[in-house]
Amino acid sequence: MENNYDDYAKERQEKLLSGMIPSHRFVEKPMMKSMMPDLKNKKILMLGCGTGEECNLLETFGADKENMTGIDLSNESIDIARKTYPNVNFVVGDMASLPFDKNTFDFVYSSLAIHYSAMPDKVYSEVYRVLKKDGLFLFSLVHPIRWSSSQKKINGKTYRLIGCSRDDNESEVFGNYNTFKEHTHDFFSWNIKEKLSFFMFQ
Ligand SMILES: C[S@@+](CC[C@H](N)C(=O)[O-])C[C@H]1O[C@@H](n2cnc3c(N)ncnc32)[C@H](O)[C@@H]1O
Repeated sequence: MENNYDDYAKERQEKLLSGMIPSHRFVEKPMMKSMMPDLKNKKILMLGCGTGEECNLLETFGADKENMTGIDLSNESIDIARKTYPNVNFVVGDMASLPFDKNTFDFVYSSLAIHYSAMPDKVYSEVYRVLKKDGLFLFSLVHPIRWSSSQKKINGKTYRLIGCSRDDNESEVFGNYNTFKEHTHDFFSWNIKEKLSFFMFQ
């Protein structure tokens, strides 16, 4: 399924600026911040940058907006990003085919975006190509355990399980993380009601 990231770009920006997305606030951003290097005088690429809000976070680690480039597939998101952060360079493009020369960036940052690409191997080799020697790549993905586990009802409660039962006569296997495949999911939150597909082990 081809995702449409344009429709809710404005709503997504409002949601991000509110700082109230629980998974970002309590899980993803604290983890990313804990691993962030000093970004003073670094040339930075933001991969799958959406409407660009991550430039504010990178700035708190010493980065200059003039040294940042953001790339995203969504025209509408990039349009909003350019208006909101005029000092940052924003480009419409695919992270699996980066329109930059080799050895360009000191730091590549990607927040919850690479799992939307059907070609993550190409994304990683493109990042390697555009990074300078000793450059750093910091990225986050949705955790595969959610999608690779299977549901089982036990005593009226639904569990997500991965592994196997240890019954001598008849063991049961739960979950599968051997197959890389497309998943589709309905997201309902804020004013956003959308179906997105992403790529993950199952
Ligand atoms: C969940 S949003 C994350 C946005 C931003 N990184 C953040 O954390 O606020 C995922 C973004 O990845 C972008 N995206 C998906 N596939 C892409 C691709 N192949 N190349 C570039 N951007 C892509 C989408 O347009 C969307 O803006």
